Amino acid sequence: MTPAWNHNRICSLLNIEFPVIQGGMVYNSGARLVAAVANSGGMGLLGSGSMRPDLLRDQIRKAKTLTEKPFGINLPLLYSNSPENMKVALEEGIRVFFTSAGSPKRAIAPLKKAGCVVVHVAASAALAKKCEDAGCDAVVVEGFEAGGHNGREELTTMVLVPECVQSLKIPIIAAGGIACGKQMLAAMALGADAVQIGSRFAITQESSGHDNYKKAVVEAGSQDTHLVLKKHVPVRLLQNSFRDEIMELENRGASREKLFEALGTGRARAGMLHGDLKKGELEIGQVAGLINDVPTVAEFMTRLLAEYELAKAGLCKL
Ligand SMILES: Cc1cc2nc3c(=O)[nH]c(=O)nc-3n(C[C@H](O)[C@H](O)[C@H](O)COP(=O)(O)O)c2cc1C
Repeated sequence: MTPAWNHNRICSLLNIEFPVIQGGMVYNSGARLVAAVANSGGMGLLGSGSMRPDLLRDQIRKAKTLTEKPFGINLPLLYSNSPENMKVALEEGIRVFFTSAGSPKRAIAPLKKAGCVVVHVAASAALAKKCEDAGCDAVVVEGFEAGGHNGREELTTMVLVPECVQSLKIPIIAAGGIACGKQMLAAMALGADAVQIGSRFAITQESSGHDNYKKAVVEAGSQDTHLVLKKHVPVRLLQNSFRDEIMELENRGASREKLFEALGTGRARAGMLHGDLKKGELEIGQVAGLINDVPTVAEFMTRLLAEYELAKAGLCKL
């Protein structure tokens, strides 16, 4: 670990060099991305939300061939195969779990018993406090600028992080709207111990997202994403005909059944993994407007940390 970060609570907790977490992302964070982040000194998380247990096992084994550094998994708790995915990850020796989408209460006992670090993703200070009380080692607090599924609270990272810092003792990882060193510095200035980055890592060479999806994000502006399905399962999506169709139905007051019928199945796989830009679901955050290239993870990490140091030096001058 470099001297600059050796007192950082998240670096010590996760045994990583830099306080940078690559958020677990369906159809994007497979073994290649996770290993590249680990090899660059951050914490990579496999996106188990889009993996059946056999695929998750393969991806854990593959990542181990690509890095000797620690890595973990993101485990959304609401899917029917979540218990099986947890079992597989434990069998394969994973000891870092970032849980999300649900309450961490029930998952925490077996994970702690197995000696795991458990971090949960929260979209409000109230849920973040519940995570601390339930025994989580740290919490990701995610503003609704973020890509992917969001809380219903619609709180921004700028408001959520300091609110959580006031009331929590465990380390806080800021997420939502962070894609460059200046934003990382701002999050740390608000009191975060580390940052979790999703969208920016989705648009790297090593992400398993389709090239069409990456190109669409590079061409997008910051106003090209919208939060849809706010009353049901809020998710931030890039503009395309699929998203327009969902928004139009919502605006017309369509029932839950009608909305889910229009959603269909396999839309996220079609959009992000297979590159169907019309009918597919393209999850990405507001930072799409700041994403203008598709670097390797190593290039991005070097850039991120250099920008961070430059921004810090600039502030000192002020
Ligand atoms: C394409 C995509 C897929 C995501 N999938 C998941 C997921 O499966 N589980 C989860 O907890 N968060 C998921 N997220 C959220 C990220 O882990 C991360 O918290 C978020 O992207 C941070 O905000 P940012 O996009 O502004 O960097 C996803 C985000 C994106 C962009």
